[in-house]
Amino acid sequence: MSVKVFVPCDSSALSVGADAVAKAISEIVSARNLDVTLVRNGSRGMFWLEPLVEVETPRGRIAYGPVTADEVKGLFEAGFLDGKPHKLCLGVTDEIEYLKKQERLTFARCGITDPLSLTDYFSHGGYRGLENALKLAPEAIVQEVTDSGLRGRGGAGFPTGIKWKTVLGAKAAQKYIVCNADEGDSGTFADRMIMEGDPFVLIEGMTIAGLAVGATHGYIYCRSEYPHAFATMQKAIEIATQKGYLGDSVAGSGKAFHLDVRLGAGAYICGEETSLLESLEGKRGQIRPKPPLPALEGLFGKPTVVNNVISLASVPIILDKGGSHYRDFGMGRSRGTLTIQLAGNIKQGGLVEKAFGLTLREAIYGFGGGTATGKPLRAVQVGGPLGAYFPESLLDTPLDYEAFAANKGLLGHGGIVVFDDTVDLAHQARFAMEFCAIESCGKCTPCRVGSTRGVEVIDRIVANQDRNKNLEVLDDLCETMLDGSLCALGGLTPYPVLSAVRHFPEDFHR
Ligand SMILES: Cc1cc2nc3c(=O)[nH]c(=O)nc-3n(C[C@H](O)[C@H](O)[C@H](O)COP(=O)(O)O)c2cc1C
Ligand code: SF4
Repeated sequence: MSVKVFVPCDSSALSVGADAVAKAISEIVSARNLDVTLVRNGSRGMFWLEPLVEVETPRGRIAYGPVTADEVKGLFEAGFLDGKPHKLCLGVTDEIEYLKKQERLTFARCGITDPLSLTDYFSHGGYRGLENALKLAPEAIVQEVTDSGLRGRGGAGFPTGIKWKTVLGAKAAQKYIVCNADEGDSGTFADRMIMEGDPFVLIEGMTIAGLAVGATHGYIYCRSEYPHAFATMQKAIEIATQKGYLGDSVAGSGKAFHLDVRLGAGAYICGEETSLLESLEGKRGQIRPKPPLPALEGLFGKPTVVNNVISLASVPIILDKGGSHYRDFGMGRSRGTLTIQLAGNIKQGGLVEKAFGLTLREAIYGFGGGTATGKPLRAVQVGGPLGAYFPESLLDTPLDYEAFAANKGLLGHGGIVVFDDTVDLAHQARFAMEFCAIESCGKCTPCRVGSTRGVEVIDRIVANQDRNKNLEVLDDLCETMLDGSLCALGGLTPYPVLSAVRHFPEDFHR
């Protein structure tokens, strides 16, 4: 019987030589005429072990990593096709603590299946959610999503069911589902991983969204920095269309859903939903004032659901297992699982899917193993470039939307960026203002002008020019940006800035 060997095709693995490893394996297999099937799977999300090679054995899948092309010959000599010991052997993959401790719902298949095999997708529970959704009235699908407690994973945490209900209730001949795959937050990669590792789950989620609100067309807006995700999504859409899971009659139901992928042009602001819609329409990415909400007047002025990749990819399991099953995970008003992305100065960076409620400390030390440098941790930024900097004393904050808000922080897309004791928070505060100045769409004054003035004020504070007076100016400026900006880019930039001043006053010589 053919032995299955898995070498990931995820960008994280490709960036550290996965293609060369796959090639080295194929060459030995051909030279020795071995019966091996090489599968290019997605990543399991343990980036420090990439390229992680797995072999299917009667004991389960056995992992080896990180593997280089030079070590491949040695793996064959050691008998890795039978799961035999080698210095890179990590044992049964599912028994690796990092994976074993997770609660994977949305990422249940990622890294396990061949991303472009519909057969694999079906045999691992794929399209069961759609099958159930096709038996339900649109209102019942929306109710299931509402009951699950799912909140948008793109940043704002808005209840997905309520958004869908608004679009369902809007009267229009054409409605759209738009998937936000711009993933601009620093330290985040969950959207990319699911698009590269399990693209059909996103297609299924968007199809269910279409059935729920009466939309017959969907668009995925993918950032230009993700060429592999873009290509994988394109191929997956082609396959799903050929097999009748997209098109004029989804799974023979007589209900239409068509899907396209579009590539962004590299602007952070195009992740904001109204800018994204402008960009999708072929215009310059600038914020549209709200109201009208995109749910009522979105793409081409039509009612539109705009949801993040992870929000949409969580829908199939909700429709498969029921809203109450999903709701059983989590704490307070944060229901289900969070896809935590560990990045920055961290020993074991990668993706951890876990019910809301885990503390920052458990994520960083229990999964991440602390800093990569081994130096003491000094600061953590959660929620991307607009997230607050938390000091060590706040590490027991649970990963929960409300707990973060209570500490003047935000969970955002679940990215956690760790810094050791060499970080200079005045420099980071300046960086936040500069980032805002560079990425500002220019539509409103507090952000366009305020961020540039903010950089100058921080420079004066650091240079000890009228330090106390300038610290007051910075406070005032941040208040104006918070209250007066048209969107959250200008409105949230004060979070990293003020948290740096509040928690690390010594870096500002306060
Ligand atoms: C400056 C800015 C950038 C954003 N970038 C993203 C992004 O890259 N991806 C994303 O899903 N949402 C992003 N958002 C949030 C979106 O505007 C929107 O809330 C989200 O796509 C809605 O989907 P959800 O309800 O599923 O989270 C951004 C918001 C702002 C203000
Ligand atoms: S806050 Fe900044 S990005 Fe947002 S509308 Fe105003 S200028 Fe544009």
